[in-house]
Amino acid sequence: MTHSTLIVTESGPQIVDTVAEHAGEGDTLIQVSHSSVNYKDAMALDGNRGVLRNLPTVPGIDAVGTVVSSPTLEEGTLVTVNGFGIGERRNGGFTPQLRIDASQVTVLPSLFDAPTAAAIGTAGYTAALCVAGVERTLYPLDTLGVKERGPILVTGATGGVGSIAVQLLAARGFTVHAVTGRAEEHGDWLRSLGAAEIVDRAEFAEPGKPLQRTAYAGLVDTLGSTPLVNALARLEWGAPAAACGLAAGPDLKGTVLPFILRGVQLIGINSVDTPAPLRAEAWELLAESLDVDALRASTRTVSFEGAIEVGRELLQGTAHGRTVVEV
Ligand SMILES: NC(=O)c1ccc[n+]([C@@H]2O[C@H](COP(=O)([O-])OP(=O)(O)OC[C@H]3O[C@@H](n4cnc5c(N)ncnc54)[C@H](OP(=O)(O)O)[C@@H]3O)[C@@H](O)[C@H]2O)c1
Repeated sequence: MTHSTLIVTESGPQIVDTVAEHAGEGDTLIQVSHSSVNYKDAMALDGNRGVLRNLPTVPGIDAVGTVVSSPTLEEGTLVTVNGFGIGERRNGGFTPQLRIDASQVTVLPSLFDAPTAAAIGTAGYTAALCVAGVERTLYPLDTLGVKERGPILVTGATGGVGSIAVQLLAARGFTVHAVTGRAEEHGDWLRSLGAAEIVDRAEFAEPGKPLQRTAYAGLVDTLGSTPLVNALARLEWGAPAAACGLAAGPDLKGTVLPFILRGVQLIGINSVDTPAPLRAEAWELLAESLDVDALRASTRTVSFEGAIEVGRELLQGTAHGRTVVEV
């Protein structure tokens, strides 16, 4: 039986018969059952050369499946690979078999099955890295207790990272304010995930004063650019700002005033090269606090053809929630 692989070539995405080279190289062989469509996959499917360094490449920055052979991992173990260059610098998860070094493989908490792990994917694991970063900064500062602290702001809230961050933060006792450009369509959904208030994205869209009225005790930002600068200007003293995304742009035209006058702490999040112990911590945080039913309810499942279409929607900003790809 022939199997299919999704590759990106000079002329765009194509579904082709799988060949051995699609698996890439490494000491561990994984039978891939699921992947997902993240914003970066959308950029790759669009042929973005900042993401895909060489063409053709198999995209897919997530791969979920079972171990076939490995020097250290037991055969049949359910695992995931998120980042480490798959679907960017080397072939990724949109193919039925992946070879990669065991040191880059995460064994999944037993709570998660393969479709759920793919629904979480890089987006959910990045949301967990952001939440862990916020908590690591806040808790040593915490003399008041979580409930008396100001709200945590999450931008790009209907997106993969944003929606999971909203749910995780709310589950961990924070008051969450969710920034979205689509309050009418998705406000009720964001409230069901735990958002206490919905804030219009337009309030953050135009350049503002370097220091604005403080309103938030922390930030998870998926947008970058002007929305991030405005959000930084509204953070309370000592507040952590986990910056992981650039959906509004990669620029950061602000001032240092939030840092030097309010002690705001900027936390950079890079899910691709995060060391294994911090990955394990993030997956444990997900196991502790993720509402799996809520995630499933806002996740759709597609084939490779569907993944190409969802990629377009993500770039247009018309998708919401998460998309699992059946490999
Ligand atoms: N650092 C890392 O390791 C890492 C890991 C994963 C993702 N990321 C980055 O994080 C960002 C979010 O990823 P994702 O997978 O959650 O993407 P996504 O599902 O496409 O969500 C992005 C959200 O941002 C908002 N948005 C889209 N275009 C916008 C624009 N032009 N201006 C303002 N808001 C806009 C939309 O939310 P609303 O409609 O609700 O406003 C959208 O749902 C991306 O930039 C991605 O590359 C980084």
